[in-house]
Amino acid sequence: MRKKIVAGNWKMNTTLQEGIKLASEVESLSTQVPSDVTLIVCVPFTHLTEVKKVINRTLLGAENCASEVSGAYTGEVSAAMVASTGANYVIIGHSERRSYFNETDETLAKKVKLALANQLTPIFCIGELLSEREANIHFDVVKKQLQKGLFDLSAEDFGKIVIAYEPVWAIGTGRTATSEQAQEMHYFIRNTIAEKYGKEVAKEISILYGGSCNDKNAAELFANPDVDGGLIGGASLKAESFIAIARSF
Ligand code: PGA
Repeated sequence: MRKKIVAGNWKMNTTLQEGIKLASEVESLSTQVPSDVTLIVCVPFTHLTEVKKVINRTLLGAENCASEVSGAYTGEVSAAMVASTGANYVIIGHSERRSYFNETDETLAKKVKLALANQLTPIFCIGELLSEREANIHFDVVKKQLQKGLFDLSAEDFGKIVIAYEPVWAIGTGRTATSEQAQEMHYFIRNTIAEKYGKEVAKEISILYGGSCNDKNAAELFANPDVDGGLIGGASLKAESFIAIARSF
């Protein structure tokens, strides 16, 4: 079902103690967030179990999971391990994973399937580079990411996914997509989904915007008909600003 969602992506920030404090603050301010908004914190693997203990209204997610089930993959954390902490969500395919850790569409498709098999909701990230937007191929790039990462799924499984459109040039740069640019791409994404899975499925998918979203610009971005919320990096590291974003619908 299409939901309003605000998800924090803490990335590689906070020690365990700082993370527990931040999650506790988010949880105590979460009473100010309308009940129809799903509030999620996606935290480092090391924090999952302890953060789970201090949240209730706020839901828990990981920032990644392995593309293999289990076994000799030193340093990896499987979808089953993530699920066993009580997390319900996992970010898959963030542009930082795609670029710094060479994660391919094929790897990401495997991760999505493992997440679903373990009852985790993937927050699947797509988005173009600045050079791709300037070359006017941003729609093609995003369509390919959708097709290669997700379009292998059954309609039933696809319906469980949350999509995050994050133009890479807007991530951590302070340069947000304009409200028009966000709506235009979200509409395109929903349309592309409708062509593959039908209008009913497309209508129910939550599509989040990510990239320098903050408490100043969230309201304008979220007011668009195809923008169902945000994936928030920097501004999720302060409880007040994160909660202010979640109150922006
Ligand atoms: P940002 O990050 O809000 O700091 O731009 C968003 C993201 O990478 O998910």
